[in-house]
Amino acid sequence: MTEETLSNLLHEERTFPPSEEFAAQANGTRALYDRAQQDRLGFWAEQARELLHWDTDFTQTLDWSGAPFAKWFVGGELNACVNAVDRHVEAGHGDRVALHFVGEPGDTRDITYAELHDEVQRAANALLALGVQAGDRVAVYLPMIPEAAVAMLACARIGAPHSVVFGGFSSDALRARIADAEAKVVITADGGYRRGRPSALKPAVDAAVDGDSTVEHVLVVRRTGQDTHWTERDVWWHVALAEAPAQHEAQAFDAEHPLFILYTSGTTGKPKGIFHTTGGYLTQAAFTSRYVHDIHPETDVYWCTADVGWVTGHTYIVYGPMALGATQVMYEGTPDTPHQGRWWEIVQQHGVTIFYTAPTAIRACMKWGKEIPARFDLSSLRLLGSVGEPINPEAWVWYSEVIGGGRCPIVDTWWQTETGAIMVSPLPGVTATRPGSAQLAVPGISVDVIDEAGESVPDGSGGYLVVTEPWPAMLRGIWGDPERYWETYWSRYEGRYFAGDGAKKDTDGNIWVLGRVDDVMNVSGHRLSTTEIESALVSHPKVAEAAVVGATDAMTGQAVCAFVILRSEAVEEADEPGEGRELVQELRTHVSTQIGPIAKPRQILIVAELPKTRSGKIMRRLLRDVAEQRDVGDVTTLADSSVMDTIKAGMAQS
Ligand code: PRX
Repeated sequence: MTEETLSNLLHEERTFPPSEEFAAQANGTRALYDRAQQDRLGFWAEQARELLHWDTDFTQTLDWSGAPFAKWFVGGELNACVNAVDRHVEAGHGDRVALHFVGEPGDTRDITYAELHDEVQRAANALLALGVQAGDRVAVYLPMIPEAAVAMLACARIGAPHSVVFGGFSSDALRARIADAEAKVVITADGGYRRGRPSALKPAVDAAVDGDSTVEHVLVVRRTGQDTHWTERDVWWHVALAEAPAQHEAQAFDAEHPLFILYTSGTTGKPKGIFHTTGGYLTQAAFTSRYVHDIHPETDVYWCTADVGWVTGHTYIVYGPMALGATQVMYEGTPDTPHQGRWWEIVQQHGVTIFYTAPTAIRACMKWGKEIPARFDLSSLRLLGSVGEPINPEAWVWYSEVIGGGRCPIVDTWWQTETGAIMVSPLPGVTATRPGSAQLAVPGISVDVIDEAGESVPDGSGGYLVVTEPWPAMLRGIWGDPERYWETYWSRYEGRYFAGDGAKKDTDGNIWVLGRVDDVMNVSGHRLSTTEIESALVSHPKVAEAAVVGATDAMTGQAVCAFVILRSEAVEEADEPGEGRELVQELRTHVSTQIGPIAKPRQILIVAELPKTRSGKIMRRLLRDVAEQRDVGDVTTLADSSVMDTIKAGMAQS
């Protein structure tokens, strides 16, 4: 973030107090802050007992003696799937719709909690029949279909941690994640519908488990009915579930039993397996669903547009809302298929009351124009949410007026794969909102903005966002790499969790999250590592060296820009007329194959040299200046200051 952006943000002083009508029905109250302030651990113990069903009560709320490895709700036992499904059926809500599924081609399916209960029991039995036991890892690589939620819940039911891999990742990325978690089974589908066409998934799994692999079976959901290559290890999901016993008695697991692993990008080329456990995660997921998303399960229709492949889909589709017994919408496709009003059509059709999405999607809708949502009746909406990246005040105000009709509070929620659940957000009905700011830590959570030396900054200043006390949904580590866990998050400031985000406190003490301060980019709310894309580029035989930066992009927040030095054999070839352009295409496709289409660089510039300091460190700041078409900053520390002129000249020609 530049100083200029910082000061622009500071000029935003509009506030929107909650309406009396909203406040009167809101779950959140000011008393929650007071209670948490008074006795933080007592507060979380009360929440855990109130929000969840425990088979065995816990005896200690937090054991932090092994810091930074926390144990929450020590001695407690519970089953995450029972909390998300069975207990609602037992309470007499079996007929309540859990999921209104909308397929991209227009097929729909309503699944009640009783039906979900039937499916998770059969799926749990099917996994057991394939030899999956408590503690075994299961990879899930599915489109946004109800089976994704069923698969995750079935894993949780038998105590097998799931590792969901976003369906947009390539087979190479899937292979690496399967290998790191040593997954025994993969649950996938023949394909899913994407932009009006069936898009195959199974071939990527075949490639990912081919040869030496820990995977013994692949369970395949039939979604598109397309031709699918079949091997001995493959089992159809519908066949396995039909053959499985209808009943499965769920066993309670320790509060610290592993629930899932979710890979996310860090500052090295190797993705981190962020590891979450059961009791604490579920407590904070349910807590924030009740108080931040203000879910009233009897009356609300909630819709979170995230994919289950990201943490938002884990916490705010599967575990949080379902722990409350909510009714929600699940949509398979993209917002503009078959038309740009698809989302708003679904809101109207299902009477959606709470809507949670990412700023990049809001900006895309802004570009398409307000006449599109205006064609639909959005009057059922009462609360809007935003997640994944900073929301610019213009997009916030557009969202509030055009989608929310000026009547819906907006919760701008800051959190991360690592934090497991929302950490900083207004409480709707309590907080007067301010466009662009995530504002305050939720009750029971302690955060601060500190300077380089670790001192809390005064209001009106910027620094780094840290979490100052352990929290229930915190990651319990990086899968198989305790050292990296400590090093990444806990080594910089003693006793405090370093989030990797820059932030600012405004003069009223509100927190503004400004974006990453490390080599992690945020493209359309998706985390990507510059190093990971650089290694993908360098793995191409024609590339000698690569530097990747995230350049500001009006639509996607940041965009991937790569600077590439070719191997000498390739240089001549690239000089041939037209060849350079073709090579750039080839490299973009290569990144897509290595990681996935989301990582495809917006721009690749072939350069003769990269700007380096005398010690050989690439000066990304200068490359970012070029990519953002700014005047290039201070070049005095460069080993060869003429390099930037050459790069800029190349940029002008491209
Ligand atoms: O930079 C912050 C940004 O997204 C990062 C976390 O990414 P991920 O683990 O993929 O989780 C995304 C969904 C929770 C953060 O370090 N971020 C997330 N929410 C916000 C945000 N930046 C600003 N405002 C937010 N509300």
